[in-house]
Amino acid sequence: MKYDFETVRKRYGMGSGKWDELQAAKPDAGEDTIPFSVADMEFVQAPEIVDGLKAFLDKSVLGYANATPAFKESVCRWMRNRHGWDAQPEWILPSHGVVDAFYAAIRCFSKEGDGVMLLTPVYYPMYMAISSNNRKLVDCPLVRNGSTYDIDFDDFEKKASDPNTKLFLLCSPHNPCGRVWTKEELRKMADICCRYNVLVIDDEIHHDLIMPGYEHFVYAALSREAEQNCLVLTAPSKTFNLAGLQTSNIFVPNEKLREQFLTFMKRSSANPKCNILGYEACRIAYDHCGSWLDQCISVIHENKERITSYFARHFPQIQVCELQATYLLWMDWNGLGLPYKELERINRQEAELFFDEGYIFGAQGEGFERWNLACPTQYIDAALERMNRAYSKYINDSAL
Ligand SMILES: Cc1ncc(COP(=O)(O)O)c(C=O)c1O
Repeated sequence: MKYDFETVRKRYGMGSGKWDELQAAKPDAGEDTIPFSVADMEFVQAPEIVDGLKAFLDKSVLGYANATPAFKESVCRWMRNRHGWDAQPEWILPSHGVVDAFYAAIRCFSKEGDGVMLLTPVYYPMYMAISSNNRKLVDCPLVRNGSTYDIDFDDFEKKASDPNTKLFLLCSPHNPCGRVWTKEELRKMADICCRYNVLVIDDEIHHDLIMPGYEHFVYAALSREAEQNCLVLTAPSKTFNLAGLQTSNIFVPNEKLREQFLTFMKRSSANPKCNILGYEACRIAYDHCGSWLDQCISVIHENKERITSYFARHFPQIQVCELQATYLLWMDWNGLGLPYKELERINRQEAELFFDEGYIFGAQGEGFERWNLACPTQYIDAALERMNRAYSKYINDSAL
C-alpha cells in the first residue's frame, strides 16, 4: 500500500507550539510556509492508527487503564523484530514521556551535586534536566570530523573516572548530530561506564528512524553487563508521530534498579501509568505500521538528498552533517559569514524558514541550524527557493 506523505494539515490554533510561533512571528506567511523546528512530523497519521483508534473508541470505555500483557508483548515484539533486542515485558515501566523519564531517572539515581555526563551539543532538555535538578553537567564535547562527529574516548574515560560522576545520559542515535553510534563505540562507552560504575540513561527515542546504509544497536543488547547497568528510554512518539498521546516505554532490565525507579516514580507521581488511547495507538503502530515507517524513512531520506544537492549547487558554504538517523538535519551555516542572530532573523523574517536554532543545543551550535525533514517534499523545495531569493542580497556568489 502506498501511504499519503503529501498532505499537510495546518495546525494553527490547535495547540502546536511551533505553528503558533510561526503565526506570531510571521502572520502573513505564505501558503507554502510550514515550521521546520520542534521534532514532530507534518505527515498525516498512518491510516491504521486512525481507523484502529476509531474502532477502539466504538467498543471501549475511557476509564483508567494499565498497560496490558498484550500491549507489553507488542512492544517487546517490536524490539525483537526491528532491533534484534530480546527485551522482556516485565522490564517495561510506563512514562508520559522520555523527557519526564530522564528527569525522574536523574533524581532517582543521583543526588544534588553529582555529575551527569553528556556528549555535546545535544538535545537541550538534557542540559535542563541536569541544571534544574542541581546536578553538575559533565560536558564531553563531541569532536567534529568532516561532515560528522566522533567521541573523544580519552576525555570520556577521564570524566567517567571522576568519582563524582554518577550518570551518563546517552542520546542514541544522537540529536542533533544525527549520528548512529557504531557497535564498537557503544562497546567502548559500556566498558568505561561499567568500569567506573556510571549508570547509563539511554535515550533511544529516535532509534527507529535509521537512514539507509546505517544500522542501530540497542545499547542494552550489547552485553549482559551493559544491560544490567542501564535504563533504555523508548517511545512510539517520534517514529509514528504520536507525541501528543504521551506514551513511552522505559525498559529497566536490572530488577533492583527497576524496583528503585518504580518506587521513586510512585512516590513522586502517585500512580505512574499512561493514557488508554496512547497504549492502543502504540500497539497498533508496532503491530501494523512497519511499512508506513519504511515509506516515511524514504521520504525523509529524499528530503535530505534534495537539500544536500541543492546546497552543493547554490550554497557550498553550508556544511550539511551526515544524516545517519533521525529526521533532524544538522547544518553548519557559519560559512555564510553572517552572525548567528542575523541568520535567525533572515531565515524567519525574509526566507520564512523556521528552524531550531543551533545555539539552543549548546555553544558549539552557534551558526548551526536544525532542519526538521519530516514533511512532504514539496515544502522542502519551496523552502529552498525562498532561501535562494532571500540570501541573494547577502551573499556575493555566482552560485546563487
Ligand atoms: C532525544 C530526545 N529525547 C526525548 C524527546 C522528547 O521525548 P518525549 O516527548 O517523550 O518527552 C525528544 C524530542 O525531540 C528527543 O529528541
